[in-house]
Amino acid sequence: MKFFLDSAKLDEIDRAYHTFGIDGVTTNPRHIMDSGKTFMQAITDIADWVRREGLEGIDKFPVSVEVDPYLEKAEDMVEMARKISSVSENFAIKIPCTADGVAAARQLEKEGIRTNVTLIFSASQALLPAKNGSLFVSPFIGWKEANGEDCRKYISDIVQIYKNYGFYGKTQIICAAVRTGKQIVDCAVAGADIVTAGLAVYMDSMAHPYTRQGMDTFRKAWDNTAK
Ligand code: E4P
Repeated sequence: MKFFLDSAKLDEIDRAYHTFGIDGVTTNPRHIMDSGKTFMQAITDIADWVRREGLEGIDKFPVSVEVDPYLEKAEDMVEMARKISSVSENFAIKIPCTADGVAAARQLEKEGIRTNVTLIFSASQALLPAKNGSLFVSPFIGWKEANGEDCRKYISDIVQIYKNYGFYGKTQIICAAVRTGKQIVDCAVAGADIVTAGLAVYMDSMAHPYTRQGMDTFRKAWDNTAK
């Protein structure tokens, strides 16, 4: 499974890449706002970081950037996506999962602009973006589970449907808004291609009190061993 960082902050991207070897980045309008930069500055800075690290190429290190969330019409999303994609060959353009969004993604994929159909909350929403060739779909986990839903079946259904129809691997499933180590495991067990989460989620998922306790135990043994 691949791990993407969900952030538009360069210091977090740099740390996650050099610590955990993350495989890509996802952003959304909220992450861009949190970076404190203008939209263009934030995405240009990420594109420059990708070049500095020698990670050019969407297959090497995809970066998802979302269109203006006020756009409703397919042609307007397509127009903005063309502009965003000219900033970096690494960009996959995030398009909301509406009928117009799917039409926009279909057109963009025909033009060779890779897309990430986002804001997916049901297995049925994940089907048409795959049929129309999107590189990624982003079914959300954390928002649903915060509302008391269990996402395990929803993700394993998407995986199974993609396997049934030959989409698996071609349209990659990014489990988005992942908040806990448990959710990372659920996505991995279901066979999702990718999880995307904030740096704090990855740091927490790597921590276990027994690891620290074990280190203390072994340090005491080390101290009491003749050298
Ligand atoms: C996914 O690609 C989204 O950027 C993200 O996971 C949205 O959720 P969040 O901002 O609530 O984490």
